[in-house]
Amino acid sequence: MRPIQAAFPATRFRRMRRSAALRDLAQENTLTVKDLIWPLFLCDGTGSETPVASMPGVARLSQDNILRAAERAVRLGIPAVCLFPYIDPALKTAGCEAAWDADNLVNRCIRALKAEQSDLAVMTDVALDPYNLNGHDGLVRDGIILNDETVEALVKMSLAQADAGADILGPSDMMDGRIGAIRMALEAAGHKDVAILSYAAKYASAFYGPFRDAVGASGALKGDKKTYQMNPANSDEALRLIGRDLNEGADMVMVKPGMPYLDICRRVKDAFGVPTFAYQVSGEYAMIRAAAAQGWIDGEKAMLESLLGFKRAGCDGILTYFAPEAAALLAPAV
Ligand code: PBG
Repeated sequence: MRPIQAAFPATRFRRMRRSAALRDLAQENTLTVKDLIWPLFLCDGTGSETPVASMPGVARLSQDNILRAAERAVRLGIPAVCLFPYIDPALKTAGCEAAWDADNLVNRCIRALKAEQSDLAVMTDVALDPYNLNGHDGLVRDGIILNDETVEALVKMSLAQADAGADILGPSDMMDGRIGAIRMALEAAGHKDVAILSYAAKYASAFYGPFRDAVGASGALKGDKKTYQMNPANSDEALRLIGRDLNEGADMVMVKPGMPYLDICRRVKDAFGVPTFAYQVSGEYAMIRAAAAQGWIDGEKAMLESLLGFKRAGCDGILTYFAPEAAALLAPAV
């Protein structure tokens, strides 16, 4: 599209910026509560709420407190939450068996959430890192992250989560072939309506640091994730991955991290026109929070501006730790 416009002074852009009413009328993109998915950190116990030092305002919550957070989400109109577990280090193994235990921390919590808040969509993370002795998303043998063996484990993990009542599975592991394997297994098990939001274009990023603290994977992680997560220098590859995951049965796709990869969001939306999400990850959250705490930026305004940026880049929704705060400010829309 080539915009047509008369020369100055017939065209004066400032005419439409003169008042809030005119600016509202000319606004192209809108952020609403319905665009938000709220990631929550789940831990054992009852009545516990442990702040995550590198993510001010975020805490690990025991199941009872997750249920309170879910009530808050519903009150605020947030459509979905996404669960990430902090697993007791004593339960981590090289085989990651706890990941597909029908009664593990996550699966118990999914059941409780669906029993109390049936309208709230529950999304899960499908990856082995919280359960893995070495902090990787896949099974490791002789220092190599195994692809096909990991996919088999992820299928078991997915089925356990679907059995527990998860609405949306979020494979975040970046193994090849897992979307197709999970989709076929879901169909065969009668879980025809469980949605998959594939972390299809997930980059090997420095912005995940605070998250790894939150789920207790930082200490465990040996090496980096560059043999399975994407090279931040690549863009065409993201389109190939998204196309591949859609062909294998993903219902929605994600670009992750968010703010440094808005160009990828735009390309994905333009190329495929499918439900496209971005994950504003822990490090992005921490940066905005830290600068706001110093008084260097206005935290609320920077938060809303960053979230609106995802909409402008073509995203249908955003996973963000700011979800409840943004939702409270967005009544009903910004
Ligand atoms: C791991 C996973 C990660 C995140 C979500 N799932 C971290 C990683 O890949 O190391 C990061 C989320 C965030 O930083 O907020 N399966």
